[in-house]
Amino acid sequence: MNSTPQVSVLFVCLGNICRSPTAHGIFEALVRDAGLDGWIRVDSAGTGDWHIGKSPDKRAMAAALGRGLDIGHLIARQVRPSDFDQFDYILAMDRSNLSNLERMRPPSFAGHLGLFLPFAAYAGQPLETDEVPDPYYGEAGGFQHVYELVEQAARGLLAHISQHHPRSI
Ligand code: 4NP
Repeated sequence: MNSTPQVSVLFVCLGNICRSPTAHGIFEALVRDAGLDGWIRVDSAGTGDWHIGKSPDKRAMAAALGRGLDIGHLIARQVRPSDFDQFDYILAMDRSNLSNLERMRPPSFAGHLGLFLPFAAYAGQPLETDEVPDPYYGEAGGFQHVYELVEQAARGLLAHISQHHPRSI
């Protein structure tokens, strides 16, 4: 479909090279597979500026490729004030990201600003945690864990949007 997107989603972490690009890539693929890529706009950004312009972390790309998903096209950027005018859902990977976003939030923002993982419940899979752990300085297996958490929440987010924005289906 080539219509103007009705629903827009921005995934946010600290660096925009590990967690939020993983969420971006997984959700983008789910949206595409559902034939909704003209209706749901997907993007990601970091609250920090260290990695602007960079590709995702090699370990995040490897974890995704291991599941058959290529996220190598994504380029890191920083959250900007105009994101609050342009996105309906701004979803943080952890509470630190969320508190940074809450400080930026303009009073006019009428969308949903919150944690991402609780959306897993809409796919019938509530998770035991509501934060995606930062894998950057951790062990290699952390990236697999990030992928698994994010995949469940992404399925739930698509179910949630399908329920709450029925015109998009
Ligand atoms: P992300 O992971 O927030 O999931 O992209 C990180 C990436 C970089 C850094 C920290 C976390 N860093 O400190 O540079």
